[in-house]
Amino acid sequence: MTKDISLFKPHLTKESPAYKGGKTTNEIDFDGPLYKLSSNENPLGASPKAIEAIQKHLQNLHIYPDRTDARLRVGLSDFYQKKLTADQFFTANSGVGILELIVHAFLGEGLECIATNPAFLPYISFPLKVGAIVKDVPLLGRNYELDVDGILNNINENTRVIWLCTPNNPTGTYLPKKDIDRLLAQVPEHVVVILDEVYYQFATASDYTTALPYVLDGKNVIGVNSFSKAYGLAGLRVGYAYSTPKIARYISKLQRPFYINSLALEASLAALQDTEFIQKTVQTVNDGKKYLYAEFDKLGVDYWKSQANFVTIRPDMEDVLFEEKMLKSGVMVRPVANFGAPGCVRITIGTREANEALINAMGRREQ
Ligand SMILES: Cc1ncc(COP(=O)(O)O)c(C=O)c1O
Repeated sequence: MTKDISLFKPHLTKESPAYKGGKTTNEIDFDGPLYKLSSNENPLGASPKAIEAIQKHLQNLHIYPDRTDARLRVGLSDFYQKKLTADQFFTANSGVGILELIVHAFLGEGLECIATNPAFLPYISFPLKVGAIVKDVPLLGRNYELDVDGILNNINENTRVIWLCTPNNPTGTYLPKKDIDRLLAQVPEHVVVILDEVYYQFATASDYTTALPYVLDGKNVIGVNSFSKAYGLAGLRVGYAYSTPKIARYISKLQRPFYINSLALEASLAALQDTEFIQKTVQTVNDGKKYLYAEFDKLGVDYWKSQANFVTIRPDMEDVLFEEKMLKSGVMVRPVANFGAPGCVRITIGTREANEALINAMGRREQ
């Protein structure tokens, strides 16, 4: 009798929620100006300093880039005013690349992580790809508060990772510092807490916190960041994270040589210096939020006040019908049922023109 041996890993043959990302404009058939408010990109474009750096380095495309991300880690240490050393950072080809590194470093078959829905889908789909178990401890109530006791009750000896996102995609809400303090005071040493803070530049709440104070305190915490949002470099794919030297060095062991391309490296180093662009971006987003909140109030739309560069609403029709209605006016928005928020739609804050196109489309009666 032959033994039933399979080439395929069982967990990869199961259906799992694949993270597809939002549609690109190429996938939309629309005659007229198209406003992409579906992927939380920067309405002002890319950091001019980053574009300049790319133009300068274009003639060197035939040369291999740096073998490692060492220069970017030094640049990041400077950006954090040397409160963190270069060996406290690790970088990747995008923010989701950082999440994938974390999964490969800490999760695998039989190991567990905790997600807090509604949440960014990769916290669930990536661990499933390596056969890990995902436990969901949903955020609570209208303000999407952290269920600290629920999370603590779900930790066992197989738990390795807790995923937190603040400001949170897809709700735009944030986790007050006191809740994160309480959780971190009780999380055991064999667990690492991820604070995904890719929208941190847009947070204004006085009790908002990044991972920085916890990392400085030596806790098992990783702050996850991206150059895709405030820096406007979504097309380049660069992400970074910081943690204790022990954790950052451990995760860096997974890096391939030459994984960061030369244009991405030069552009992200230049973008870190572009304070003026970040200020302009934040101002545009804040102005846009003010305008949209006022218009939503006039239209009687249910929405959540946001700490990010997007706002989430609950339209008075099915989410996908709302998406279709907006598309008829060339406005792309994003239903977020697959992020654990059924009936809700996430809308990126755009330019004044894009925001007005959205409001006009929302007010338009169906023929
Ligand atoms: C919460 C969150 N984390 C991480 C990312 C990853 O960003 P990127 O892969 O573009 O760097 C995103 C992108 O939408 C996000 O919303």
